[in-house]
Amino acid sequence: MPKVLLSGSGGQLGLCLAELLPRRGHEVVALSKGELDVVDFGGVRLALEDHAPDVVVNAAAYTNVDGCETEAELAYRVNALGPRNLAQICEDLGCDLLHVSTNYVFDGESTRPYEPFDTPNPISVYGRTKLAGEEYVRQLTNRWYVVRSAGVYGRGHNFVRTMLRQGAERDVLKVKDDEFISPTYAADLAEGIVGVIEGRHYGLYHLTNSGSCSWYEFAKEIFSLAGVDVEVVPVPGSEYPLPAARPANGVLSALGSPELRHWREALEDYLRREKVT
Ligand SMILES: NC(=O)c1ccc[n+]([C@@H]2O[C@H](COP(=O)([O-])OP(=O)(O)OC[C@H]3O[C@@H](n4cnc5c(N)ncnc54)[C@H](OP(=O)(O)O)[C@@H]3O)[C@@H](O)[C@H]2O)c1
Repeated sequence: MPKVLLSGSGGQLGLCLAELLPRRGHEVVALSKGELDVVDFGGVRLALEDHAPDVVVNAAAYTNVDGCETEAELAYRVNALGPRNLAQICEDLGCDLLHVSTNYVFDGESTRPYEPFDTPNPISVYGRTKLAGEEYVRQLTNRWYVVRSAGVYGRGHNFVRTMLRQGAERDVLKVKDDEFISPTYAADLAEGIVGVIEGRHYGLYHLTNSGSCSWYEFAKEIFSLAGVDVEVVPVPGSEYPLPAARPANGVLSALGSPELRHWREALEDYLRREKVT
């Protein structure tokens, strides 16, 4: 089994990968932001030389989509120069790199789910910096996997927890109904990523739970499964303008990627396993 070095191990996805990889028999060096700053080229080189992994999985990112609009330099450092550093050093040391990216590399104008071969056209700083990270990875190393996901929730700050907190405080909630995603349980994404590493076919993957919904439909299902009695009202996103634009269609096609279970089943499992309610 390959030895895996995991960066960003304290995040939603990182926590799941840090738990799952040893269960699947992999030797894992899991490093959080405090232990490995991906922006620090010298630190990354030392860590990779010390631990000599066969595969590096980069789950580190600056994921505050609105924050990226005002902190573009930080976003570029973490989301683009971080994977640039990893890719360059992985290439030098001869190890594989799996980098995690996002559906926000697309503009959301398509009328069908985005295929891996569709041309990205990001509409936010977050999306642009993530795309720059993907491009560095593809250009600087031959042994790359890029895994795009969408609407990830796990342990940490996410839509499911926000809805449940707000649902406990209010009788009526307005949620946007004109933006579509495939909500994805971080534990399922971690399973998919481990499958990709084990499959050893380099390239681009789209890994999300299957099916899709609007944020409004997602919220309705969260409250229904959690048994919370709150009225959810569908509204256009324009009613709540945010600093960063989001793609209206954020749904990814899993063409060529392992299929993950339906998002409803995954959500039910999440609410039960993580005891969120
Ligand atoms: N969340 C989503 O909806 C979503 C959707 C599609 C794709 N993705 C992608 O999936 C991946 C994992 O996302 P996630 O939801 O697990 O995000 P997350 O919970 O925000 O985790 C990201 C982790 O990276 C850490 N980090 C930030 N800057 C770093 C640096 N310079 N060096 C090392 N670590 C650093 C963060 O630490 P701090 O929290 O201490 O800053 C955090 O622990 C990311 O590539 C993200 O772009 C996420």
